[in-house]
Amino acid sequence: MSKSTLTTELLTIPGLPTLWLLGRPVSHSLSPLIQNSALQKLQRKILYLAASVDNEDFAGVVRSLPKMGAIGANVTVPHKVSAFQLCHEHTERAKKMGAVNTLIFRDNRIVGDNTDGIGWWNSLGQDCNPQAFQGAIVIGAGGAARAVCHTLLMHGISRLRLLNRTEEKARALVEELRKAYPGQNDVRAAKLTEFAELLERETLVVQTTSVGMKGEGSPVKLPDFWPQGSYLSELIYGRTTPLMKTVLQHGGACQDGLGMLCGQAAESLAGWLGVPFEEIPIDAMMKAARERITSP
Ligand code: ATR
Repeated sequence: MSKSTLTTELLTIPGLPTLWLLGRPVSHSLSPLIQNSALQKLQRKILYLAASVDNEDFAGVVRSLPKMGAIGANVTVPHKVSAFQLCHEHTERAKKMGAVNTLIFRDNRIVGDNTDGIGWWNSLGQDCNPQAFQGAIVIGAGGAARAVCHTLLMHGISRLRLLNRTEEKARALVEELRKAYPGQNDVRAAKLTEFAELLERETLVVQTTSVGMKGEGSPVKLPDFWPQGSYLSELIYGRTTPLMKTVLQHGGACQDGLGMLCGQAAESLAGWLGVPFEEIPIDAMMKAARERITSP
C-alpha cells in the first residue's frame, strides 16, 4: 500500500504558489526551513513544503503539481533518476549527470536541473581556490560523489581518484565519467585503504559518504599527516567529523557540507524565480540552517 504523505488536500492553498521537496524520507530535511527563510527575506508569497512520496506515486505527483499551483520542486533520494526521465528538457549539467534535483514547471513543461554540483563548487570557492588543486580524491561513489565528480571534470580538474567501500561502484562511476569526458582520462578507482598513499600536496579531498555523521567513524583510516595546500571538503554538515578534526589538528583547512546544502538550494531558487543567483539571500539560508543545527 502506498505510504506517500502528499494528498490533494495539502495542495489546496488558494492563490498561493508552492514549491515542493519530494523524497522519502523528507522529515529530517532542512530544505523547507532554508527555502522559506529566503522567500521571506525576498518578500515573495510562495510556500515551500515537503512531501514524502513513494516510488509508485512519484510520476503522478509530479504531473499533478503544476495543475495545483506549484512552480517547481526539489527532488531527493530515491527519486533523482526517475525525475530525470519525467522531464521534457534538461539543463546541460543535468543531462551530463543523468539525474535531477530540481524541477521547474514552465509553460506546461517540466525542465530538469541539477544544482548539487554547482552549489558545492560555489561553496568551495568561498573558502579556497579550487583551480589551484592538482587533483582530487573523492571518497564514496553514490549520488553525491557523482555530482561532485561531474562538477570537477566540468571545471577542468581532471585527475580524479575515486575511493569506495564497494569497489565495483567506483569502477562503474569511473567508466561513466570517462565516457562523458573523453579527453580527460586520468580518472581511476582506488581502494579506501590507499587513501594515505594518494594524499599529496595540493590535493582536494571530498568526503561524500554518510560515515562520520554521528560524530564518530571515518570511511578511511585517519592519516597521521596532512600535506601542505591540501583541503578537505566534507559533505556532512552540523558537526566536525573525525576526518575534519584530523585535518585541523595537522594545520590543514576544511569545510563542512552546510555551504553545499545552501548553495544548491540557492541555485534551485534562482531557477524557479528566474532571477540571477546573486539575488538569492544565501546568508539568510545559512543563518537559518545554522540556528536549527545548533539549537538543542
Ligand atoms: P548519497 O546520495 O548521499 O551519495 P548513496 O548514493 O546511498 O548516498 O551513497 C552512499 C555512499 O556512502 C556510498 O559510496 C557508500 O558506499 P557503498 O557503495 O559501498 O555502499 C558509502 N557508505 C555508506 N556507508 C558506508 C560505510 N559504513 N563505510 C564506507 N562507505 C560507506
